[in-house]
Amino acid sequence: MAKQAAVGWGHHHLQNRWLLALLLMLSVSTVIAFFMRAAFDSCDRNVSAAVDGIASARHVIQAAEKRAPQIAAAKPSPLSFMKSKVVLLVSHELSLSGGPLLLMELAFLLRSVGAEVYWMTITKASETDEVTYSLEHKMLDRGVQVSPARGKEALDTALRADLVVLNTAVAGKWLDVVLKEDVHRVLPKVLWWIHEMRGHYFKLDYVKHLPFVAGAMIDSHVTAEYWKNRTQERLKIKMPDTYVVHLGNSKELMQVAEDSVAKRVLREHVRESLGVLNEDLLFALINSVSRGKGQDLFLRSFYEALQLIKEKKMQKRIQDRVHFVNKTLTVAPYLAAIDVLVQNSQARGECFGRITIEAMAFQLPVLGTAAGGTTEIVVNGTTGVLHPVGKAGVTPLAKNIVKLATHVERRLTMGKRGYERVKERFLEPHMAERIAGVLKEVLRKSKIKSGRHQD
Ligand SMILES: *[C@@H]1O[C@H](CO)[C@@H](O)[C@H](O)[C@H]1NC(C)=O
Ligand SMILES: *[C@@H]1O[C@H](CO)[C@@H](O)[C@H](O)[C@H]1NC(C)=O
Ligand SMILES: *[C@@H]1O[C@H](CO)[C@@H](O)[C@H](O)[C@H]1NC(C)=O
Repeated sequence: MAKQAAVGWGHHHLQNRWLLALLLMLSVSTVIAFFMRAAFDSCDRNVSAAVDGIASARHVIQAAEKRAPQIAAAKPSPLSFMKSKVVLLVSHELSLSGGPLLLMELAFLLRSVGAEVYWMTITKASETDEVTYSLEHKMLDRGVQVSPARGKEALDTALRADLVVLNTAVAGKWLDVVLKEDVHRVLPKVLWWIHEMRGHYFKLDYVKHLPFVAGAMIDSHVTAEYWKNRTQERLKIKMPDTYVVHLGNSKELMQVAEDSVAKRVLREHVRESLGVLNEDLLFALINSVSRGKGQDLFLRSFYEALQLIKEKKMQKRIQDRVHFVNKTLTVAPYLAAIDVLVQNSQARGECFGRITIEAMAFQLPVLGTAAGGTTEIVVNGTTGVLHPVGKAGVTPLAKNIVKLATHVERRLTMGKRGYERVKERFLEPHMAERIAGVLKEVLRKSKIKSGRHQD
C-alpha cells in the first residue's frame, strides 16, 4: 500500500533558525470525510486518509465551502453532449488512491450532465473496509450505479454502454476475464485512461488489447511519449490514438485556496500543531513515501542548504527539525500551512503530479525536478525553479531553497504566477473541456466501427 506523506522544513527567517518538517502519513485513521479530495500524484497509488489532529481543520474547510457562493455556471458544461449516454467506468480498485479518485471525479462530471453512469471495481477490498464503503455511498448518493465487476450483469452493461472507460494500465486484465469472447465487441468503445509510467506495466498481460481500443488518454505529453516508445520497443504493439489530458483542480480545493479566512485559520492550526512559528518558512514535500519520490535526496539538499547559509549555531540535529504527519485526506490544511512545495520525484518523474497544481492554487512556488509532468506544469524561473533528478540535483535544489528562503519578494511573486497559471489552464472546467474533446472523438469513432459491424 502506497503511503502519502509530506516532508517539509521551515526557516526561521528573523532569527536565522531552521526547522525541518518531514510529514509522514503512515496509517489510515478511522475518520473518513470527503470534503476534500486528496492530493495525489496520478502515476502512483497514494493512499490517504484523514488525520484526527486536523479534524477541526476539516470543519474550516467545510465552512469555507458553504461560504463560497454557489455560482451557477452560466456556460453549459462542455460534456453536455453526454446526456443520456450510458458510460461504464472500470476501476482497478476503490480507494483514496489517485487513480480511483480521478475516475470518481469523472463519474460526477458525467452525472452532472445527465449521463447514466455505472461503476465497477475489479479488486474488491474486504467488506468491512470503511473507505470503500464510504466511497461507494458517496457515488450512490450522486446517482452513480455501483455494480459487480464480474458475471453476466457486468458483461451486459459493457455491451450496452456507449462508452467504457478503463482506468489505469492494470485494469486491462479485466477485459479478458470478464468479457471473454465478447471482448472484441467492447474494445472499439473503450477509452483507456493511463496514469502510470513504470516499467512493470509494460506487460502484454495488461496491455495486449491496447492497440484495439478507441483511444488512450494520458496525463502528460512526456508520459504519452514514453508509452509510445515502450510499447513499440518492448512489446512490439502500437498505441491507439492517444490524447494528452492535463488534469485540473477540483472546485472544492479551489474554494479553500481562494478563501483567505479559511486559509489563515488552517495555516495557524497546522503550524501550531507542528510547533512551527509564524515567522518560520516551511518547505514541504507531499507524496507517497518511496525512493522514487526523492525524500532522501530532499533531506540531503536540506542539509546542504543549512551549510550554505552557514548556520553555525545550529544546535538541533536534523531529526529535531523533521515532522512526521500521518496520511491525510485533506492536504489543503498543509498547503495552507507551508510556504514552498518541493516536488522531488526521481527518474522519469511524475506522470502529472497533481499536488503540483494544488500547491500552485495556494500560491506556492514549486521547486521541482526537471522530469515528467512537472516540466509541463512549472514554468522554470516564473512559477518555480527546476533542478535535475538524481544526485546531480542535490546541490541545485539546496541553492534554490536558499534562494527562496532569502528572497521573499521573489518567492511570493512566483507563488502568484503559479496561481495565475492554474487559473488559466489547470481548473476542473479546463479538464472537463479537454476530456469532452476526447469523449466526442471516441464516440464518433466507435459509432463508425459499430456501423461497419452491422453492414
Ligand atoms: C522516445 O524515443 C525517442 C527516439 O528514440 C527519444 O528521442 C525520446 O526521448 C523518447 N521519449 C521518451 C519519453 O522516452
Ligand atoms: C499515526 O497514526 C497512528 C495510528 O492512528 C498513531 O499510532 C501514530 O502515532 C501516528 N503517527 C504520528 C506521527 O502522528
Ligand atoms: C531552470 O532555471 C534555472 C535557473 O533559472 C537554470 O539553472 C536551470 O538550468 C533551468 N532548468 C531547466 C530544466 O530549464
